[in-house]
Amino acid sequence: MDQKKQAELSYNIFLIGFMGTGKSTVAEYLQKHFSMPLIEMDETLEEREKMTIPEIFASKGEPYFRQAETELLREIQKSTNVIVSCGGGAAMRPENVEIMKQKGKVVLLTASPENILERVKNDENRPLLKNRKTVEGIRELMEARRPFYEAAADLTVRTDTQPLEEICEEIFRKLETEA
Ligand code: S3P
Repeated sequence: MDQKKQAELSYNIFLIGFMGTGKSTVAEYLQKHFSMPLIEMDETLEEREKMTIPEIFASKGEPYFRQAETELLREIQKSTNVIVSCGGGAAMRPENVEIMKQKGKVVLLTASPENILERVKNDENRPLLKNRKTVEGIRELMEARRPFYEAAADLTVRTDTQPLEEICEEIFRKLETEA
C-alpha cells in the first residue's frame, strides 16, 4: 500500500456496522500497517467493568452498556489519528454519531446475513445474537438497523469476499474521494 498513508491523520476513523462485518479484523490490520493507535470499544468497556459483554448485559443491563459506550466515545473524541472499532450498536444512538462526526470519518462495513451467520455461529459473546443465529434472525435485526447505519456512514465497504488488504485499500481510497 501507499507509504504516504502512514502520515498522521487529522481525524479519527470509526468503523461501524453489524456484528460480524469485520470491524475488529479491519481495525487490527489498519493498526498494524499504518501504525495508528487502535481503540476496540468492546474490549475497553470489558476491561473497565472487569466483566465480559454478556456479563455486563446480564448484571447491569443494556441501557447501562449503551451509556458507557456514549461516554467512551466522548473520551475518544479528545484524540485524533485513532482507529476505533465500534460495537455493532454504537451507531444506533444519534448522539453517538454526532460525537463520532465531530472529528471523525465514519466507515460502514457490510456483509450478507449468510456470511455473518458463518462468522458468528460459534461465538457466545454477543448477547443480541443469542436467539438469532439464523439467516432470518440476523437479516431481521440488520434490516431494522440499516437506516441508522446508512445515515451515519461517510462511506461503505463490503467485506463479503474481498481479501482484507483490498478492503483496507478501498477504505483509504474512499476516505480520499468520498468522505
Ligand atoms: C452489539 C455488538 C457487539 C457488542 C454488544 C452489542 C450490538 O459488538 O458491542 O454485544 O448491539 O450490535 P460487535 O459488533 O463488535 O460484535
